[in-house]
Amino acid sequence: MKAGIIGAGMVGSAAAYALALRGGASEVVLVDRNAALARAQAEDIAHAVPFAHPCQIHAGDYDALAGAAVVILAAGVAQKPGESRLSLLARNAQVFAEVIGAVRDAAPDALLLVATNPVDVMTDVARRVSGLPAARVIGSGTILDSARFRALLGDHLGIAAQSVHAYVLGEHGDSEVLGWSSARAGAVPLAGFADQMGAPLIADMRARIDDAVRRAAYRIIEGKGATWYGIGAGLARIVQAIRDDQRAVLSVSATTPEIQGVADVALSLPRVIGRAGVIATLLPDLDADEATALRASAELLAETAAQLR
Ligand code: LAC
Repeated sequence: MKAGIIGAGMVGSAAAYALALRGGASEVVLVDRNAALARAQAEDIAHAVPFAHPCQIHAGDYDALAGAAVVILAAGVAQKPGESRLSLLARNAQVFAEVIGAVRDAAPDALLLVATNPVDVMTDVARRVSGLPAARVIGSGTILDSARFRALLGDHLGIAAQSVHAYVLGEHGDSEVLGWSSARAGAVPLAGFADQMGAPLIADMRARIDDAVRRAAYRIIEGKGATWYGIGAGLARIVQAIRDDQRAVLSVSATTPEIQGVADVALSLPRVIGRAGVIATLLPDLDADEATALRASAELLAETAAQLR
């Protein structure tokens, strides 16, 4: 399967690298207006391929996207220290207005996978500009936040993150909602599991985990200027679910007809992902606080998206 990546910066190249290492695509094309950067990233990653899985990775222009089953949109500006994701919207919406037409012309059958922040609103921008149905325009959304949540819970509980089933919902950003009440480990509700493991999830610990998830990107950006490994791996995970028609449940962003009384808003919920894109959307059980927070997140995203119209 061929994947295209628009934007050969840190996120796009990390996604290409992750795809090469996990064998998520047989061909990856990197497209960037800085052709020299795209070529250099492609050549560097190609040198990792012999240690991993066969993968033809190269740079090209939009024509080279022909036949791609999925195109990752990672072009645009990224957060600077202290900058919110939502503040990037106007600049990145302009970038999408410039690139999506060329992507659609070159790869009309490709699903779009949005990584550019603010990823939820940008997912809706990509849907509107491309004219594709919502199911074929996926945003990485909170796939990374859910991974962060699971990793921290696994550390606290002393178990593998892969055995923790917990989702972050809503905005990939400051208003995101950690799904504590629906979280499970080993088929046991999280609180009960924690008690059985002798690691009770007291309020202070919950607050620390919430802050660590919610502010992870800000912390990393302060230290190294941007994030890329986590999001790169998350994008590769989504691409593999598409390629293999896995029907995997992933917390990703897509325009949703209605959530908590808010209409036509792109945000993250657990969704069944396969070759056709979003196959189904699920709503986890929410306690009253979570439902209120999810509504607030949806309203914030809807209001932000309305600023573009
Ligand atoms: C982060 C970026 C991808 O959360 O928004 O690391």
